[in-house]
Amino acid sequence: MKVAVLTSGGDSAGMNAVVRSIVKCGILKGCEMWIVREGYEGLVRGNEEQPAPVQNEQNDDSTQAVSEENADTTSQQQCDPNLLHNLRFGDGQLLRDWTAEYVGGRTLKGRYIVRVGWDDVRGWFSEGGTLIGTARSAAFRTPEGRSAAAFNLVKEGIDGLVVCGGDGSLTGADLFRSEWPSLIQNLHAQNLITDEQLAAHSHLKLVGLVGSIDNDMALTDMTIGAPTALHRICESIDNINTTAYSHSRAFVVEVMGRDCGWLALWAGVAIGADFIFIPEKPPSEMPWEDHMCTEIRRHREVGKRKTIVIVAEGAHDKELNPIRAEYIKDILTERLGLDSRVTTLGHTQRGGRPCAADRILPTLQGVEAIDALLSARADTPTYMIGVQENKITRVPLVDAVRATKDVAKAIKAKDFDKASELRGPEFLE
Ligand code: F6P
Repeated sequence: MKVAVLTSGGDSAGMNAVVRSIVKCGILKGCEMWIVREGYEGLVRGNEEQPAPVQNEQNDDSTQAVSEENADTTSQQQCDPNLLHNLRFGDGQLLRDWTAEYVGGRTLKGRYIVRVGWDDVRGWFSEGGTLIGTARSAAFRTPEGRSAAAFNLVKEGIDGLVVCGGDGSLTGADLFRSEWPSLIQNLHAQNLITDEQLAAHSHLKLVGLVGSIDNDMALTDMTIGAPTALHRICESIDNINTTAYSHSRAFVVEVMGRDCGWLALWAGVAIGADFIFIPEKPPSEMPWEDHMCTEIRRHREVGKRKTIVIVAEGAHDKELNPIRAEYIKDILTERLGLDSRVTTLGHTQRGGRPCAADRILPTLQGVEAIDALLSARADTPTYMIGVQENKITRVPLVDAVRATKDVAKAIKAKDFDKASELRGPEFLE
C-alpha cells in the first residue's frame, strides 16, 4: 500500500511526531510512505515533475550505514539495495527543511508529494510546528481543487491518506473520501486516468488524527498540541506573575482556543487565576462586571498582591456579546483602581517543542492510524484516531464532527449547561 500523510490547518506541537510515527510505522508494516507538503494545498498542486529516480550507487556509504544502524527495522525486509535505499531515504535524501525549494542537492520546487524513508523523519518527535508545512487551502474547498487532488494521488499510485488537523481539516478529508468514487469516474471520463488506475483506486483509504491546540474535538479527550499549548500558557503566566507581584498589578491574559475554553479553563486551574472567561460557561451573574469585581476585591482584601484574569479569545456573556480583554482591563482600572495590563499570548502558545504528552500520544495514535488504514475497506467509515480514558480509540469521523458541531449549536442557542456537558465533565462545576 502507498500511504501519504499531510498536516493541515493551524499547526500544533506534535504534528512532526505524527508524521514520524506514521512514516516509520507504515514502513515497518510494508507500506511505501509519502508526505504531502503544505497540507491540502500541496495535494491540489501535486508534482509538476516526476520524482527523480532513486540513486543507488554500489558503494553508497549510507546504504551500508543503514544496515548497521537499523538492522532491527530493516532485517525483516530482506530487501535488495535499491529497496533498502528507498526505505531509508525515499526521494527525500535526509531533508531537514521540507519547505525549502532546494534541499539535499535536489529541487522540491513544483513537487508537493514526496516519497520519504525512515531517516527523513528521524528525531522529528522533538521538533515544533510542522516540518512538512501546513496551509488553510481555499483551492481544496472547491470541487475542481478536490478533483486535482484526487488526480495527483492516483498519478503517484497513492491509495491511503492520513490527515492530521483540526475539525475543519478533518471534515474536508471526509468530504473528499465520500466524493472520491465520482471524482475518479470523472477523471476517467476525461481520459486523465487509465482503466487500470480506475480499477486500482476505486476507493480512498483515509484516517484522521486531531492536531489542534484548542482541544475542541468531541469523542477524544485530548487533541495533539493541546498539552504543549497549555504548558506554554502556564509558563508565560508564571513569568507574568512575578512582575504582577512586584508592582501589585492586575493582568488580563488572553489565550487562544477559538470557540473552546479548554485552554483558558485549565490554565486558570494550573496557575490559580482570580477569574476565568470561557465560551461554554459565561459568568452566571449579570452584570458580570459586578460579579468579577466583587470576587477580585475579596481576593485583594485577604492579602493578594496580584490579580490574574484569563479570557478565552472566544469568550462572551450570556447574551453572546464578546468579552474583550481590553474592556476587562478598563473595568479593573476604573472600578477597583488596579494598575492593569493586557497580555495577549498569541502564537507563542502554538510554537516551540512538544512536551512529552505531545510526543507519546502521536506516536501511539500513528500506530493505530496505520492499522486502521491497512484494515480499511470501501464500506468502513473514515476513522478518527482519538484517546478516551487513556486508551487509543477509533471513532467514525462523522460522529466526532457532528458532536463537535452540537457544542457550537448549544452555545448559539444559549444553552450553556448543554454546551458544558457536551464538552466534558471538566466544564461542569
Ligand atoms: O485553531 C488553532 C488556533 O490557534 C486558534 O486557537 C486560533 O483562533 C487560530 O488558530 C489562529 O489562527 P491563525 O494562526 O490563522 O491566526
